[in-house]
Amino acid sequence: MTMRKLIAGNWKMNGMLAALDEVAAIAETAAAHPAADVALALPATLIAAAAARSPGLAIGAQDVHARDSGAHTGCLSAAMLREAGARFTLVGHSERRGDQGETNQDIWAKAVAARRCGLSVILCVGETAEERDAGRAARVVQAQIEQGLPDDAEGDWLTLAYEPRWAIGTGRTPSIPEIAEIHAVARAKVRALLGDRSGAVRILYGGSVTGANADEILAIADVDGALVGGASLTAAKFAPIVAAGAATAV
Ligand code: PGA
Repeated sequence: MTMRKLIAGNWKMNGMLAALDEVAAIAETAAAHPAADVALALPATLIAAAAARSPGLAIGAQDVHARDSGAHTGCLSAAMLREAGARFTLVGHSERRGDQGETNQDIWAKAVAARRCGLSVILCVGETAEERDAGRAARVVQAQIEQGLPDDAEGDWLTLAYEPRWAIGTGRTPSIPEIAEIHAVARAKVRALLGDRSGAVRILYGGSVTGANADEILAIADVDGALVGGASLTAAKFAPIVAAGAATAV
């Protein structure tokens, strides 16, 4: 099925208030390409200001706690993020799986909490280099989806992002057939879990997407958009990827 492409940026731990000019420029880029959906996951410190300055752009968070409130020092609930102006959150990004030891069960609970508070979710999955070398990439991704995907993930609130961990921030990407293979596996798994209700779940590719490779990656069957780290930090680098997403719209 051909869906509107979603081009989502992830600023990670980058961006001071001065970067709000760049957010505004990205909002202008998004407005200039209405055939694609554009979203930006920002550091929590920027969400409220960015949402106020660029109300037309889907601003989101990069993580969320599974509880609505309580004794969880340093954490943010979905309700807090929503109130600040976030419309969505990432969950299960590989840097959190790696740095914070998040499990598929943790990620499932975060997705459920986000949904409960009205945030859309981009759920990230992807194998490590060791898992790929051992021929286990497809099985790892299947398990991450099976254990992380909420039962009511139908509808457009849930998006998956396939991000091979070894491709993130490295300038290395899988080959086109390798991306196509895992996206087909992910699509089949979502269909098996959700049946007829799976149609609206978009599956993004992430990991070293740039203006130079976006066209061919976004043309792959079952690639419904991109999750972009480094190349989303400036409108100048992000714009060609947004344009590539808009160009594939039918
Ligand atoms: P990258 O990051 O585009 O810098 O590789 C992608 C991501 O981590 O979402």
